[in-house]
Amino acid sequence: MHITRTIDETRTAIAAAKAHGRRVGFVPTMGYLHEGHLSLVRAARENGADFVVVSIFVNPKQFGPNEDFDRYPRDEERDRRSLEQEGVDLLFIPSVEVMYPEDSTTMVSAGAVARPLEGQRRPGHFEGVATIVLKLFNIVQPDVAVFGRKDAQQCSVIARMVEDLDVPVRLVFAETVREGDGLARSSRNTYLTPEQRELAPVLHRALRAGEEALTRGVEHVETVEQLMLKIAAETPGVEVDYLALVDPRTFARPADFYRDLLLAGAVRIGKTRLIDNIAVSRASMPHTRGRG
Ligand code: PAJ
Repeated sequence: MHITRTIDETRTAIAAAKAHGRRVGFVPTMGYLHEGHLSLVRAARENGADFVVVSIFVNPKQFGPNEDFDRYPRDEERDRRSLEQEGVDLLFIPSVEVMYPEDSTTMVSAGAVARPLEGQRRPGHFEGVATIVLKLFNIVQPDVAVFGRKDAQQCSVIARMVEDLDVPVRLVFAETVREGDGLARSSRNTYLTPEQRELAPVLHRALRAGEEALTRGVEHVETVEQLMLKIAAETPGVEVDYLALVDPRTFARPADFYRDLLLAGAVRIGKTRLIDNIAVSRASMPHTRGRG
């Protein structure tokens, strides 16, 4: 596996691969890799990539002033070994100085889909995400790029950006990889003490209760949301940030139930903030079964 740390080296290595007719797949990450990240590498290959590029960069511009940028977990050596085992071709690990030279000021404005939920709680977060992802796309120029549905709003922000700014890349969104008890894999799970780790699956349980209500035919946003809140409230030590039923195209309240829906949640356990979501397709709700 080739490791690069500058933009020039990265561009040169990828240009050589492309000159040999390779199809470039790209998986951007912030490192401290787990099975969720590695599943994206496999998805890149399944979607036609035969030269897979992974980046590791803890992007300061997507962290708020009181967030966990400084303590975000890092282990370059372990990440390198995992990616090597996965057969990754190129690992790009830029420094903050490489990605944001002192005179860099331009940011991508993320638009309406970035405003609710995560956007409301984390002002500037999605502008930071969109900016770094566009920069990485311009460096790597991938044929296909893979993101995880665990960060559903991030997927929508990036899809919107790619369409609005005519970025020539095919996006693939991969399913969330979970632990046996339902907890979504996340680099931030490592912050949890063993006691907190026991509480954490309640987020997924609450979302599942919402899903169950929708597939039973409940057609009332507040009813579904209250049901999820009730489940979460049964676990002391878990503070709900939001548990919401939204339209995944806008992340706002759905206009009706004749469409694909998304149950999205964020909770705090001690200092750790966890997010998760479940997509509920229009076809899985009883009123649309058998209809066109
Ligand atoms: P990070 O949190 O490291 O995640 C990198 C990619 O892995 C994202 O596409 C994320 O959705 C995906 N991912 C994380 N946990 C997953 C899981 N349990 N199952 C499947 N996929 C999972 O997301 C970021 O970094 C950053 O915002 C980034 C896009 C790299 C921009 O800085």
